[in-house]
Amino acid sequence: MMVLMLTVGVSTTSAQKNHNVSFIPKEVWKDTDGNMINAHGAGLMKYKGTWYMYGEYKVGKTILPSWATWECYRTDVSGVSCYSSKDLLNWKFEGVALKAEPDNPESDLHPSKVIERPKVIYNKKTKKFVMWVHAESADYSKACAGVAVSDSPVGPFKYIESFRPNDGMSRDQTLFVDDDGTAYQFCSSENNQTLHINRLTDDYLRPEGTFVRRFVDMAREAPAVFKFNGKYYMLSSGCTGWDPNRAELAVADNIMGEWTVIGDPCTGPDADKTFYGQSTYVIPVNPKKGLFIACFDMWKKKDLADSRYIWLPLIADKKTGKMEIPWRDNWSLNDFK
Ligand code: GAL
Repeated sequence: MMVLMLTVGVSTTSAQKNHNVSFIPKEVWKDTDGNMINAHGAGLMKYKGTWYMYGEYKVGKTILPSWATWECYRTDVSGVSCYSSKDLLNWKFEGVALKAEPDNPESDLHPSKVIERPKVIYNKKTKKFVMWVHAESADYSKACAGVAVSDSPVGPFKYIESFRPNDGMSRDQTLFVDDDGTAYQFCSSENNQTLHINRLTDDYLRPEGTFVRRFVDMAREAPAVFKFNGKYYMLSSGCTGWDPNRAELAVADNIMGEWTVIGDPCTGPDADKTFYGQSTYVIPVNPKKGLFIACFDMWKKKDLADSRYIWLPLIADKKTGKMEIPWRDNWSLNDFK
């Protein structure tokens, strides 16, 4: 037995140990080493033909503090993971790109804090990779955005600072870079009741000063922004903590202009609960043809490290502008070739 195990170990060091052939929402999704993918509340970025995925690296026990008056389940901060892929299905673990700081209790990256929804964008002018996260205290009263920067897509990212963009609270958040290179941060603000859209400085490290309040008193969370056929779209969830609710899609002609709610694009079993998922990102796979992937987290609030993923096709019709996220038990991008 010993000999056999050794042989297997040696023969697989350079080969892939696991190969996925289709997306199977809600099932354990393994990386190329055969380990469960650990990238929650993830964001993606394409750079030089490779996709990179960044997510909350959730390790260890889920904790509900003794003082908790609501379900603020959390795991200790272990950093932000990075994976790379050419096909969006098979992901290589590139390591923890933004590391926790266990020796500094004051740091936002100390295990006692909360780091959520990392999103990374590339700045063509500065040639830096810029990460924004939701930087929280264990009781979720901090409501800040944290910014980190790196020279490489796989890190290491250097944490710069956290702040409230334009003095507004910032919890669930995402980033979007428009075709002209201008970047925006969308965040659940004003106690999660109203969404703020903050335009960023040219280096993407700070809010530039212009922002708008949208979805006023509509309590939208988990924003995921994408562009199709010249219009801006935002997929989001309602505000029910780790529990699922109905997804909603909205559209705008101008990113900081008026947004119009379209409705729920999910179809199939449990569509009214977003299939038990919550949005985190929409991947522009082939935007010209109207093919996107909607990425959701299926939170397991009492064992957050075992939370699963639900990735489904988001199909947009150019003529009508209609969008649908249909349930699939098992699917692949080849289905759309
Ligand atoms: C959700 C949010 C998650 C996490 C959770 C904490 O509403 O989308 O990212 O913050 O609340 O309860």
